[in-house]
Amino acid sequence: MMIVLGIESSCDETAAALVDDSRRLRANLVLSQFEEHRRFGGVVPEIAARSHLDHLDGLITRAMEDAGLSFGDLSGVAATCGPGLIGGLMVGAVTAKAIAAVHGLPFIAVNHLEGHALTPRLTDDLPFPYLLLLVSGGHCQLLAVEGIGCYRKLGGTVDDAIGEAFDKTAKLLDLGYPGGPALEAMAKNGKTGRFGLPRPMLGRTGCDFSFSGLKTAVRHLAEELDYPLSAGDKADLAAAFQDAVGSVLVDRCRHALALFREMTGQDGPLVIAGGVAANQALRHRLEQETQERGVRLIAPPPELCTDNAAVIAWAGLERLRLGADDPLTTAARPRWPLDQLTPPSSPVSTAEKVAP
Ligand code: KG4
Ligand code: ZN
Repeated sequence: MMIVLGIESSCDETAAALVDDSRRLRANLVLSQFEEHRRFGGVVPEIAARSHLDHLDGLITRAMEDAGLSFGDLSGVAATCGPGLIGGLMVGAVTAKAIAAVHGLPFIAVNHLEGHALTPRLTDDLPFPYLLLLVSGGHCQLLAVEGIGCYRKLGGTVDDAIGEAFDKTAKLLDLGYPGGPALEAMAKNGKTGRFGLPRPMLGRTGCDFSFSGLKTAVRHLAEELDYPLSAGDKADLAAAFQDAVGSVLVDRCRHALALFREMTGQDGPLVIAGGVAANQALRHRLEQETQERGVRLIAPPPELCTDNAAVIAWAGLERLRLGADDPLTTAARPRWPLDQLTPPSSPVSTAEKVAP
């Protein structure tokens, strides 16, 4: 039996988890730093790094205790080494390397996006290939997932990431922090039909996204209303924004499914992953669309969509069982595009790609 310790610290969640090769989560702890960043209205990198440093050790100890394991029971230690905020990444990477060095364990440098991309293999044992809609705070991409380290990008955002658009729109409407879940909650009380918003890229060929115009359109509508906005205005604007995002996602996925069929001869499956995939309204839109087309949709449980270490441990385990661990000299890096990864068997290893 393989058991891997996973560490996640790329943004504002400090997380430690233990996962085994029968896909069991032996422990899964996430400490969100929402309170520390709330008064700044967004993540402050230095505060995030210091908070990871303060909490990571204790969290790992608790995870080991929850699982009833000692370090000698582990097969490897995996940490997110990018992309993300460099201070936090360094805290996680150095901690994982220290544990690996002291206990003589393999170290695996995990790409955070690969953690999101491989989640359906942890939750649903999904075989390759599949189509992935990766929607998070920093990313919005459609990818054909062909194997570990084999990601073909079909489209991405030309401006804002989708989570960023949620967060900025929530800030504009003064909905509180973190913005995505706050906007979703507000939209539940709103009417989608009161305000007309653009649907950027809708009907265009290809699979690219654009969200900055949508965010600006919300601002213009808000400026025309009486200040301060009433709860009803905010709810209706939030509902209109979420509805427009839903229409764009459905349209882009339609195009991607057609491309994916040309590439693989398969109709899906379609996987949604990343923090924004926790949004129930968007999940529902994609469910309706895929059901009508007879395409299987896999939407992992929300707690495995938002940042966590279970999916990092799993990505590490998938690499480790193919014999791919990384040297302790591997550096954390803020940028690390998913489609630049290579399969573990490739002559150019992940580690070489990661090294400065
Ligand atoms: O994957 P994630 O936890 O961190 C990154 O890798 O970026 O995604 C965080 C993003 C944030 O922008 C957050 O506002 C958004 O996911 N998010 C949501 C929801 N929950 C989290 N956006 C919309 N609706 C939600 N329920
Ligand atoms: Zn993420």
